[in-house]
Amino acid sequence: MNILGIETSCDETAASVVVDGTEVLSSVVSSQIALHHPYGGVVPELASRRHIEAIVPVVQESINTSGINLKELDAVAVTQGPGLIGSLLTGFSFAKAYAMALDIPCIGVSHLEGHINSVFLEPDPPAFPYVALLVSGGHTSIYYVTSHTKNELMGRTRDDAAGEAFDKVAKMLGLGYPGGEIIGKLAEKGDPEKISFPRSFLDKSDFDFSFSGIKTAVNRYISNHREEYKKIIPDIVASFQEAVVDVLSYKIINAAIQKKCKHIAIVGGVAANDRLRNRVKNDSKGKGVLVHIPSYHLCGDNAAMIAAIGYHYLVDGKKSDINADVYSREVI
Ligand code: KG4
Ligand code: ZN
Repeated sequence: MNILGIETSCDETAASVVVDGTEVLSSVVSSQIALHHPYGGVVPELASRRHIEAIVPVVQESINTSGINLKELDAVAVTQGPGLIGSLLTGFSFAKAYAMALDIPCIGVSHLEGHINSVFLEPDPPAFPYVALLVSGGHTSIYYVTSHTKNELMGRTRDDAAGEAFDKVAKMLGLGYPGGEIIGKLAEKGDPEKISFPRSFLDKSDFDFSFSGIKTAVNRYISNHREEYKKIIPDIVASFQEAVVDVLSYKIINAAIQKKCKHIAIVGGVAANDRLRNRVKNDSKGKGVLVHIPSYHLCGDNAAMIAAIGYHYLVDGKKSDINADVYSREVI
């Protein structure tokens, strides 16, 4: 089945055509980074206005480059939540109208399940059950995944998401927005053992996270080393990144061991971080688990993952009513 996916939950307008939840025919992502850059973060009102301008050309391009025509589409899948309400409403209203005009089903899906399922867009996907670490700008959670559409939350952050911590630390150091990618690159030139930032494992046997403490610790370090800190910014970000990665890697491997899973998935924007990718792969060696991480372009927000999970909703017989509404907070 050919599914058109649409994603507008935050600051990317994206559309994609995917066959049977696995084969990507086209994937178009229009980023709003330049628009929000002067403000150091996403401005919700600007984001929804830009989605309105971008949605038609982005969908058009995804159809044009897919090699199929509109009559061959079987359904439209769209992010229903969580995310910014104004941004979500643009994509969701567009998708309902588009599906109605084509007389095909519209399927509102969870953005989080889209990320969790993104590993199926790669060759050799995990077998069920697997544990997934979803690390993004809005979420840091571990799920026990038993099918494409069934998962159980094992733990989550009690305060900041890991990506949010990357973005805030980058802002404190004046490195620009969005900070995750910038820190990842700069950290390659730094010494991860130079500064010992706190590792917040909370209870080592559970799967909750906390990243507000490390953010404060970096802030305190900057205030205590007024001018000198500027000379060692690569060391600061490498040490910060190492502390975050230590906790993420430890908890996801432990989750796999506790649930006796042979497969781990690392998904979401922060899954593009090379140190995290390498550490989880290395730390899990000899523990009988296989690590699955999508290619870089499938880690950040995209519509291929939305089309892919939409296919599985459709197989399960789930679709959205014309009166369905978006939701801003996590409901799974
Ligand atoms: O999944 P995503 O695109 O959007 C959300 O659903 O939140 O994730 C965006 C987050 C941002 O916080 C960004 O700074 C972070 O992912 N990120 C990274 C890297 N690339 C993006 N964090 C660390 N290292 C990276 N290479
Ligand atoms: Zn996301």
